[in-house]
Amino acid sequence: MKACYPGTFDPITNGHLDIIERASKVFDSLDVLIMANPAKKCIFSEEERKELIEQSVAALPDVHNVRVHIGSGLTVDYAKKLGDQVIVRGIRAVSDYEYELMQATANQMLNDSIETLFFIARPTYSFLSSSVVREVAANGGSIRGMVPGPIRERVLAKLTGNRR
Ligand code: COA
Repeated sequence: MKACYPGTFDPITNGHLDIIERASKVFDSLDVLIMANPAKKCIFSEEERKELIEQSVAALPDVHNVRVHIGSGLTVDYAKKLGDQVIVRGIRAVSDYEYELMQATANQMLNDSIETLFFIARPTYSFLSSSVVREVAANGGSIRGMVPGPIRERVLAKLTGNRR
């Protein structure tokens, strides 16, 4: 079965990467979809986000079934185009539930043949978000353990405006 994992990924965090690794073991293939969330103004361009995800995934041992795409339009339409039957999303805490329920229900109404399945985030990452990474880095804090090792320097350089 083929699945996709849509998100904004501005930037990818260790929490996202954990979901990618776990989902890649459950499904035959996993398409990571960089989609637009109209409520968010991104710092990293779509191409930068794609490269950061690809670099992070490349460093995962034994993971060879993940592809990264810059999507457009509705997630369900893009998923259908790729032949994905499942949308994967992560849930970190009860606070994520209401938003995810709304998204999953909307997607179900748009395409009833694509199921949304949720992965529960590891407790280590339950506090983590892309905005936490952005805020910590912008204020000179360490993002070690928050973003994948191979992309840390690049993320820091962008978020601190090369002021380091
Ligand atoms: N670990 C760490 N962080 C996680 C996480 C996890 N397991 N799961 C979620 N997050 C964080 C992200 O870092 C992000 O943090 P931020 O808000 O500080 O940036 C936040 O939770 C959720 O973002 P993310 O999962 O990257 O994507 P999103 O919620 O912005 O994505 C889309 C929403 C893109 C999937 C949705 O808007 C979409 O499908 N858009 C296309 C149009 C469409 O089809 N809409 C649906 C029909 S209405």
